[in-house]
Amino acid sequence: MSLAGDLRAAGQGHLADALERLEGEARERLRAQLEALDLALVARLVDGLVRGDADQAAPEAIEPPEGVVPIPRDEAARAAEREACAAGEELLRAGRVAAVLLAGGQGTRLGFEGPKGAFPFAPITGRILFDHHAAKIAALRRRHGAALPLYVLTSPQNDAETRTIFARHGHFGLAPESVRFVVQGTLPAVDRESGAILREAPDRLALSPDGHGGLLPALRAAGALEQMRAEGVTTIFTFQVDNPLLRVCRPEFLGHHARAGAEMSTIVVRKRAPEEKMGVIARVGGRTAMVEYSDLPDELAARRDERGELVFWAGSIAVHAIEVDLVERLTEGGTRLPFHRAVKRVPHVDDADRPVDPPEPNAVKFETFLFDALPHAERTLTLEAAREDEFSPIKNAEGPDSPATARRDLNRMCARWLERCGVSVPRGDDGEPVDIEIDPRRALDADELAAALPPGFRVEGPTALGPPDGA
Ligand code: UTP
Repeated sequence: MSLAGDLRAAGQGHLADALERLEGEARERLRAQLEALDLALVARLVDGLVRGDADQAAPEAIEPPEGVVPIPRDEAARAAEREACAAGEELLRAGRVAAVLLAGGQGTRLGFEGPKGAFPFAPITGRILFDHHAAKIAALRRRHGAALPLYVLTSPQNDAETRTIFARHGHFGLAPESVRFVVQGTLPAVDRESGAILREAPDRLALSPDGHGGLLPALRAAGALEQMRAEGVTTIFTFQVDNPLLRVCRPEFLGHHARAGAEMSTIVVRKRAPEEKMGVIARVGGRTAMVEYSDLPDELAARRDERGELVFWAGSIAVHAIEVDLVERLTEGGTRLPFHRAVKRVPHVDDADRPVDPPEPNAVKFETFLFDALPHAERTLTLEAAREDEFSPIKNAEGPDSPATARRDLNRMCARWLERCGVSVPRGDDGEPVDIEIDPRRALDADELAAALPPGFRVEGPTALGPPDGA
């Protein structure tokens, strides 16, 4: 059938009409986008998620998580952690780990122009998130003699700009061939009533990235899974671009994952309050799963055990270890992850090509989520971490989870490290430490810092401790 015929058969005839009205390059632009559409998939999504009921686990099927490895509190647990750490270091040394930085999102809430990774989060040097994460990769490679290739997930919306930023900064000191960009797919936004695909301009569809679950098919399509196999990589560590605190490829986590024979693992922190907007690791239908905060009924979110602790406490910080085998299984013949709907406000043009700026959410976007791979894993492992050492994301421009809270938490963490090394840190009237930055190439944790402090090092005011000479 012709393109126009296919569109009409799929109930998207308005796009065939829109194409008819265009000429020249504009027509070719829209045609290329239309030809790249998976119309059968869009039809299925419209049927299921626009006209049908959104998928939701029944509340009674959600049970507390099992077997979470807690933060060590006694000597036996500390010994187990040391063993896990050694196992994780061995994986890194053996070149069996690849790091994947998820950076394909649109960062709408932060409202920053450009990829979120280009956000200058650091209080003194103004260094950007990409730089900070790349420095951690460089430090890990040196510390463990690890190959540790870095894959960066981008989307068609930010791929060119992201590559340019890395190139302009000399890949932040990483060998260019060790930084590999993988572009995720996109899906069109549709009208929330009719399911009609929206156009953001007369010659352009309203496309957006297909969610961080898009990582999995994108890795396959880019040949990255084959490349990993050829290089001996068995385990992928995934992390999000907007969490500067995170300990990338923490050996203890990788070691627990490997020793448990897990196919997919997750790091969690204790939720602060029932209403904190954080997904939790739980058991759904007898399998490990992430339950989004919007899908966890209030009654379950607030439920407490006999010690008064939240039963659904295990808030996911969206860090995973995933076996390459599992990714291969999940992407054979298209993705196996379920699609979710998000109702959003999407400015667009109408059938007469007039701009429409809707006051209310008018559209449905479709996304898959990486954490939905969890129930497919034969075995999973969940590791508890201390929030103050691992998690302070930059999601919003102001308020909670914003640049201000991330800077505060980074300052506090750096101050704790320094104080453990016997260096006193001045504090302001509000009790908060002065601004401090410690380059990850100087130290990735307090123990490493103890050996890396310049002799007689003191903190008298805002202090940025750069990389050691030669790093
Ligand atoms: P979020 O879901 O927080 O989205 O992504 P976001 O794009 O950063 O911000 P909002 O929701 O538009 O305000 C969490 C992580 O997943 C990545 C993001 O780049 C971020 O690192 N992500 C998200 C992708 O890589 N692809 C996507 O399609 C969505």
